[in-house]
Amino acid sequence: MSNYPFPESFLWGGAIAANQAEGAFLEGGKGLTTVDLLPTGEKRWEIMLGKLSRFEPDEQFYYPSHEAIDFYHRYKEDIALFAEMGFKALRVSIAWSRIFPNGDDETPNEAGLAFYDGLFDELRKHGIEPVVTMAHFDVPIHLVKKYKSWRNRKLVTFFKRYARTILERYQHKVKYWMTFNEINMLLHLPYVGAGLVFEEGDDVTQIKYQAAHHQLIASALAVKACHELIPDAKIGCMLAAGATYAYTCHPDDVFDAMEKDRESFFFIDVQSRGAYPGYAKRFFKENNITVEMEEGDLELLQANTVDYIGFSYYASRATSTDPDVLKNQTSGNVFGSVENPYLEKSEWGWTIDPKGFRITANQLYDRYQKPLFVVENGLGAVDELSADRDINDDYRIEYLRQHIAAMGEAIEDGVEIIGYTSWGPIDIVSASTGEMKKRYGYIYVDRDNEGNGTLKRVKKKSFDWYKMVIKSNGQELN
Ligand code: BG6
Repeated sequence: MSNYPFPESFLWGGAIAANQAEGAFLEGGKGLTTVDLLPTGEKRWEIMLGKLSRFEPDEQFYYPSHEAIDFYHRYKEDIALFAEMGFKALRVSIAWSRIFPNGDDETPNEAGLAFYDGLFDELRKHGIEPVVTMAHFDVPIHLVKKYKSWRNRKLVTFFKRYARTILERYQHKVKYWMTFNEINMLLHLPYVGAGLVFEEGDDVTQIKYQAAHHQLIASALAVKACHELIPDAKIGCMLAAGATYAYTCHPDDVFDAMEKDRESFFFIDVQSRGAYPGYAKRFFKENNITVEMEEGDLELLQANTVDYIGFSYYASRATSTDPDVLKNQTSGNVFGSVENPYLEKSEWGWTIDPKGFRITANQLYDRYQKPLFVVENGLGAVDELSADRDINDDYRIEYLRQHIAAMGEAIEDGVEIIGYTSWGPIDIVSASTGEMKKRYGYIYVDRDNEGNGTLKRVKKKSFDWYKMVIKSNGQELN
């Protein structure tokens, strides 16, 4: 038995995203979205970085988001399984293009709105709190084609309409909101984070920061609308977090680590503290970046800060200024990192560092002094069915056990954490690779990387383990 002081109201649960789970990519009037043009295979990475050559699917590729795990049709069955585990919360995202198929439509698509009504009602029926991300890596493709996506200020207006529409519609059903998923992803995978497509000669950094400003303004407008329309709701930002360690104690390495962290904190500094930080202004000046702003922008940012800090944590990162050390790169949720000799890695090369979770949570709380919400954490691994068709995912249990313990330690350190929704409680499509093989779930889905399989759901060993964790409010982890 552990003795971690998880509050009684702690929101245990799981997190998924529309484009990785729903499928039904053109059903119910939904429009095509950025992720619908991300195939599996080598091409995927190129597009995620901003090299997209056509605005419609190409027959020679396989697009995993088109059917995903068919959550669109099977959500009742899936939610019943989440309820069986005792979930208190489920984080989902709304697909913008289900509500506004083109993004710039004057009126919303009723079938799309009705779909999420059904989803939220089903969650409430089971006593599960919906935690809703407004934009999780998905921009209606029409906005990319016609307006060049978030580099255009017009997107702010379209997003504002979208945000107000869903806030109004679901005001009695949803009390936890988040604006942009992993907003800092825009700098690393600009097509994924913001639908950015680059052309020859584009000033990529300038465009990224201009798009970032637009998203920050859109986020502040959504916060404003949420506070006006649903005063008892909470709305947060969402950061792809993971502390950056200096490879050595050489001041150059330490400074480099600080700068790497600030690259991400930049977004949250604006969303939570309400102003562009000094280090960002210096960076803009030294890199000839001019972020165009409209009158009133800075006041809007200042007046509409978030209520809580949502974040994902998968891995810590490490950095060095030594070219030889820099040769040993590994990954961790897309963020570059040098290999940390003290830590193990997942099958996908993501560093495994539970203590880094505690460090990250402390760092965020020290910096922002606002409640934290862990809205993603987990281990992407290959699961094999045993001869008697069981899935003994002890490695996943071990990863989660250590991370939940680290979170308990952080709470003991004085960090306020309101909930923990582990990533992909049911296997879904991987965002970075498009694979189904990279599984995070307590529930296995019979589907492979090529889209074969019955889509049948099977409980893994971790299912009962997580159920026990929730039932004991984090006291029973073994
Ligand atoms: C986060 C995203 O980056 O990490 C999720 O918000 C994503 O959408 C998750 O799925 C895990 O990454 P991956 O690439 O293993 O699916």
